[in-house]
Amino acid sequence: MRSLAVASFLLLSLTSSASALSSCVAFDANWNLLAFNFGGKDYNAGTQQNWNSADPTDITAQGRPPFDGPNVYCYLSQFTNAIYILGADSKNPTAVYLYDASAKSWSTQAVQADSGNKFDPTNFAAILDHDTNVFYAYSKGDIFSLDMELLKAANSTAKQWVDAQTVPWDASTYKPTMALAQNHIHFLGVPNVPAGSAMIFVIHFSFMQPEPQLYGQFPSTHGQTTSFFMDTGVQTKFAFIPDDVSATYVIDVTTNTTQTLKAPTNQDPNATYFASTDSLVQLSSSGAVSYLPFNQQQASDNSGASWTAITKLPTASTNSSASSSGSSASPSGTSGASSSSGGSSSGGNSNGNGALPLAFAGSWFWSVVGLLVGAALF
Ligand SMILES: *[C@@H]1O[C@H](CO)[C@@H](O)[C@H](O)[C@H]1NC(C)=O
Ligand SMILES: *[C@@H]1O[C@H](CO)[C@@H](O)[C@H](O)[C@H]1NC(C)=O
Ligand SMILES: *[C@@H]1O[C@H](CO)[C@@H](O)[C@H](O)[C@H]1NC(C)=O
Ligand SMILES: *[C@@H]1O[C@H](CO)[C@@H](O)[C@H](O)[C@H]1NC(C)=O
Repeated sequence: MRSLAVASFLLLSLTSSASALSSCVAFDANWNLLAFNFGGKDYNAGTQQNWNSADPTDITAQGRPPFDGPNVYCYLSQFTNAIYILGADSKNPTAVYLYDASAKSWSTQAVQADSGNKFDPTNFAAILDHDTNVFYAYSKGDIFSLDMELLKAANSTAKQWVDAQTVPWDASTYKPTMALAQNHIHFLGVPNVPAGSAMIFVIHFSFMQPEPQLYGQFPSTHGQTTSFFMDTGVQTKFAFIPDDVSATYVIDVTTNTTQTLKAPTNQDPNATYFASTDSLVQLSSSGAVSYLPFNQQQASDNSGASWTAITKLPTASTNSSASSSGSSASPSGTSGASSSSGGSSSGGNSNGNGALPLAFAGSWFWSVVGLLVGAALF
């Protein structure tokens, strides 16, 4: 009975899921484009000027996830220069895989669902908060957090999602669209919230602002989002591509304005996106990659910008067997979610939590100061 229920959840989430692609793109903290599970391998395509001139470097290494989940999500932890990958292991659906981009090594962090077992690893959306390095996820009407401390390799102690609160709107039909900027989570397409506005969850106070914030003009629908990084400090702009792929919106949360840019050439509602400081990259559900150059300082530069295909990468892997293996693996995944199996810290974990690499120590300090100042102003 339970597996039936789990299987039908999975089917539900598959039919409404963003992509059937078991791959992702992400940037490291030096703005190299990393492509995971492209033809079964991982690549570093370098920075923007290299994308259509130099061959990507094969960075496939031991300990990588099986990439057999139907929805793979990648996040950059900028302070640690690590990529955190969720949903890449159907047998261990709550596990977080860590790719240390400096050491080029992998490890697996064991993670349990929340104590009430409400977090559904087959049906969620998440952001990784820049300053605190804490994941926030929305799953079926609740907001959950997962503290990654400053890990660039797994800790042998299992972590756990924590149920932070229930959202104050009708969640029965809400398919989450979440974006991070200025330490706030922006929820788009919320029922009864007008176009051009977002509901804001203030991370540092675990507080949902009661009134929506107006940012300009964009439709109130589901879509894809990604935040533009800064070289230091929090993101202040995010891209929003609605499911009809009619335009690329960039929302600036410091000026409360929205810029409308060219729609992606590949009109794919199931594409995923990842931004650096100067580029917005699309990974289509058929495995093709393209990008839009973006100037964060000079908004007028962007209106004429066009999407360009990145052709030097092999095609990303679609995994049609992932859905069926996903549903059969899900019951064990569910029970596995409450055990700490699958977690292992990689051998010499001397740089675990607390051992900040020097280069990042300064910016971490200033961002903490920023937090305190922000809190004082708030
Ligand atoms: C997007 O994904 C959904 C669910 O997997 C699928 O039903 C739909 O056909 C896809 N749309 C396109 C245009 O690929
Ligand atoms: C697809 O998923 C299957 C089943 O989990 C796995 O064995 C296989 O390696 C995956 N293939 C690719 C290309 O990721
Ligand atoms: C943006 O909106 C917020 C909330 O209404 C307001 O406090 C802030 O001053 C606005 N910023 C600008 C630049 O108008
Ligand atoms: C691992 O996690 C435990 C529990 O949170 C913590 O006490 C310990 O300091 C962590 N170790 C490292 C190396 O981060």
